[in-house]
Amino acid sequence: MKESKIFLIGFMCSGKSSLASKLSRALRWRHVDTDREIEKLTGKAIAQIFKQEGEAFFRQLELNVLSEIAKHEKIVVSTGGGLGANKEALKIMLSSGFVVWLKIDFETFISRCFQTNRPLLSLSKDELRELMIKRNETYKLAHLTLDASKTLNELASELLHCLDGVCNVNELGSN
Ligand code: S3P
Repeated sequence: MKESKIFLIGFMCSGKSSLASKLSRALRWRHVDTDREIEKLTGKAIAQIFKQEGEAFFRQLELNVLSEIAKHEKIVVSTGGGLGANKEALKIMLSSGFVVWLKIDFETFISRCFQTNRPLLSLSKDELRELMIKRNETYKLAHLTLDASKTLNELASELLHCLDGVCNVNELGSN
């Protein structure tokens, strides 16, 4: 396997952190989560940053944090849902590692995410659906797409096989 960094991208509640944690144990690499890094750096919860500093501040911060994280090797990175949809951030990930999109459908997202405390959940269902459709256009540029409705074991096994060269990776922009 030539990759030394794996980035998991996708919409909220697609299971990026759980899969990253499982993979990092299997590979004996470090699991880094961009939101947790931001919380460590600022000493504030994500919801608090959104409330006190605003979303634009958070977006810049997550881009800065990602740039720092991407300098490391042997890491599995779970990213906040906005990062994989940010073209600049995606460029950093695509050029420095293997990028995996955990694709979730809207109904699964609602059922998994509904009762969590995420700032963007203050949007209406229609707005969230629009946001997902828009973001999917960028997420799909990932090297690999996995179906987030599968179990954690299935996802980890598919991804590990893929890293061993036993899978079809996406052709950029065509999946
Ligand atoms: C966000 C997703 C969250 C977190 C923040 C913004 C987004 O992370 O970064 O609330 O814009 O989709 P998760 O994808 O882990 O929920």
